[in-house]
Amino acid sequence: MPKQTIRDLELNGKKVLIRVDFNVPLKEGIITDENRIVEALPTIKYVLEKGGRAIVFSHLGRVKDESDKANNSLSVVAKRLEEHLNQKVVFIPETRGEKLEKAIHDLKNGEILMFENTRFEDLNGKKESKNDPELGKYWASLGDVFVNDAFGTAHRDAASNVGIASNIKHTVAGFLLEKEIKFIGGTLESPEHPFVAILGGAKVSDKIEVIKNLLNVADHVLIGGGMIFTFYKAMGLEIGKSLLEADKVDLAKELLELGKGKIILGDDVITGKAFEPETEKNCRSIEGIPSDELGLDIGPRTIQLFESYIQSARTVVWNGPLGVFEFPRFAEGTRSIAQSIADLKDRATTIIGGGDSAAAVIQFGLKDGFSHISTGGGASLEYLEGKVLPGIACVDDK
Ligand code: 3PG
Repeated sequence: MPKQTIRDLELNGKKVLIRVDFNVPLKEGIITDENRIVEALPTIKYVLEKGGRAIVFSHLGRVKDESDKANNSLSVVAKRLEEHLNQKVVFIPETRGEKLEKAIHDLKNGEILMFENTRFEDLNGKKESKNDPELGKYWASLGDVFVNDAFGTAHRDAASNVGIASNIKHTVAGFLLEKEIKFIGGTLESPEHPFVAILGGAKVSDKIEVIKNLLNVADHVLIGGGMIFTFYKAMGLEIGKSLLEADKVDLAKELLELGKGKIILGDDVITGKAFEPETEKNCRSIEGIPSDELGLDIGPRTIQLFESYIQSARTVVWNGPLGVFEFPRFAEGTRSIAQSIADLKDRATTIIGGGDSAAAVIQFGLKDGFSHISTGGGASLEYLEGKVLPGIACVDDK
């Protein structure tokens, strides 16, 4: 169902509530990846240019007790946003109350304020995370219209997305949410073929539903990462000290059966003696993994095999690294596959489904080589599983 977007709203003079996902990684108070801030800028700028009064808010981290507040304040993010916008961002270190209400009242057209981490309300009985009806109603009362641009949070049924939407007349998608719906939702609905899905990551258990859903729509599902060893075990192979989810071996067998002819696994791996960056590195056929080694990356023959599928694809969706790319010696599989997807640039729709694979692509300097890099982690995964995301469902239909 097509959703209303920010283009469908009159914004001039309106108090515009903008839910973004500024849940960015912080290390000692420094933002280490500001992609989510950058990706939210088009929506915020548009509201300001159209004469709206922007009220921006987000969650940040998990807030379980008072001591979590200091490390999870959005003040540092507000500062960074101010630098990007080159405009004053009034930061209100509260999530409700007179100070916030007065600041909103005093906002003029084209001005912006940001209020504190919505999850500070979780100290009060998980009000934000459990979508407390009073809280959603209160936040909705602060604005005239609601723009949801927080794709990363779309899998959560929270007061700051669904709660507000249920209590306000207009809820529309911002440009980022619109883009995520178009690329991920649109691709799953009507992909161009051949459609190649590439799935990696450590655990089969994290990807079961994604594999099943993609088997319905993709022509081939290439599997790498730590989870392949549970599949190899299911095929009766010896996997040495490689990662194994012993209780998922039967499930891996079922998936292999279900995906017969579609699931593609490689036939070689790069191993080490220990899960360490400088461990001795060997290339092994999957039939010959020694008992004292563990697989840390896909091998060169597997890279070539995967590339042969990628080269003729018209749609590629990738979620999850293919090896331990954080260790440079074991990054080759992930890097090569990222590069061959990026090489498709104008010939195919190429989507990175967020999380670690997005981090890998950014680390390799290949960010511009893809049609879309999702800003969601859990949200992209659940979207790829074919689930209805509450943060999308709550946006008004066209
Ligand atoms: C994310 O980073 O995946 C989103 O911001 C959601 O965060 P959460 O898992 O803490 O709800």
